Amino acid sequence: MILGVGLDVVHVERLRHWLHVSGLLDRFFHPDEIAAVRSRGESAALSLAARFAAKEAFGKAIGTGLRGIALRDIRVENDEAGKPHIFLYGSALAAFARAGGRTVHLSLTHERDNAMALAVVEG
Ligand SMILES: CC(C)(COP(=O)(O)OP(=O)(O)OC[C@H]1O[C@@H](n2cnc3c(N)ncnc32)[C@H](O)[C@@H]1OP(=O)(O)O)[C@@H](O)C(=O)NCCC(=O)NCCS
Repeated sequence: MILGVGLDVVHVERLRHWLHVSGLLDRFFHPDEIAAVRSRGESAALSLAARFAAKEAFGKAIGTGLRGIALRDIRVENDEAGKPHIFLYGSALAAFARAGGRTVHLSLTHERDNAMALAVVEG
């Protein structure tokens, strides 16, 4: 059963600046996400913005927003085909369990100025 959907859009320029402020990245992104995004060179800001949108989309999909959730407890990783998957830890995993979630489906997109994410939570 679908418990909720969440959609979010992030302006890429805002996140491009974060790539040079390590304190901000460490606060909001899992270390594996930071490493993966940095390895993308020119498109790092696009991927970073899409991952931030994914975290907000996840918060919307579970219906509580991100209050009480450490954003670095939500990690996005691509599989071999490039499809993004969400992995949850600590505060995010607890909020997901409280919402009755079992599976998260995620889709990301980005173009020059904006990145978007759609999350669907099944319970
Ligand atoms: C839910 C949340 C993610 C919304 O994100 P946002 O970027 O502030 O706002 P957006 O413009 O993307 O979305 C706003 C819409 O989200 C929806 N929304 C608000 N609370 C929601 C909730 N609990 N569940 C699902 N959707 C929600 C509403 O429809 C709202 O629009 P409306 O008030 O016109 O109806 C936000 O409330 C939240 O939890 N923010 C925490 C952000 C944070 O910790 N950021 C890190 C530092 S920058």
